[in-house]
Amino acid sequence: MTFRVRSADQRRAEIQARAAAMGIDEAFISRLVETFYGHVREDETLGPIFAGQVEDWDEHLPKMKDFWSSVALNSGRYAGKPVPAHRKLGGVSAADFTVWLSLFERTLEELAPSPEVVSYFMERADRIAKSLQLAMFGLPNLPPAKPAENF
Ligand code: HEM
Repeated sequence: MTFRVRSADQRRAEIQARAAAMGIDEAFISRLVETFYGHVREDETLGPIFAGQVEDWDEHLPKMKDFWSSVALNSGRYAGKPVPAHRKLGGVSAADFTVWLSLFERTLEELAPSPEVVSYFMERADRIAKSLQLAMFGLPNLPPAKPAENF
């Protein structure tokens, strides 16, 4: 049996070629991020949460472009830590994540060149949203841990 060992560079090139064939490139990601956060700022649920946290949108937007470039194109440009950034947010609920995801999907439907591109981003956003919620709220459908009685 022969195994084809691909280097990280080869893998990155393959992912970027596949994404480019769908019309996903840095210009698309830039437009997606700008438009999405434009909608977020106007949203009655999410707008106030972001307004209370993001002091400098000129810093936040490039970071989010790096993030989506790393997620969608494997560019390796994002080196931040989303979990602590979200754990420190007070008053965010699972329902807010539903709003976030549906706004992201609506933005993609506005801008994406095909339904395939909508799914490409939504699959990744759903997965990341689940892991952020796990870090923020714990496992769903489990009662909160009781304090130990005997220790
Ligand atoms: C209700 C849902 C969400 C809310 C309210 C929210 C809110 C925020 C806020 C306020 C920040 C800025 C934190 C700061 O600069 O101090 C932030 C950062 C960020 N968010 Fe979210 N977020 C949500 C969901 C998501 C999802 C689903 C993703 C990814 C798919 C995501 C990805 C990120 C990333 C990558 C950062 C930058 C973290 C860093 O490196 O500093 N967020 N978010």
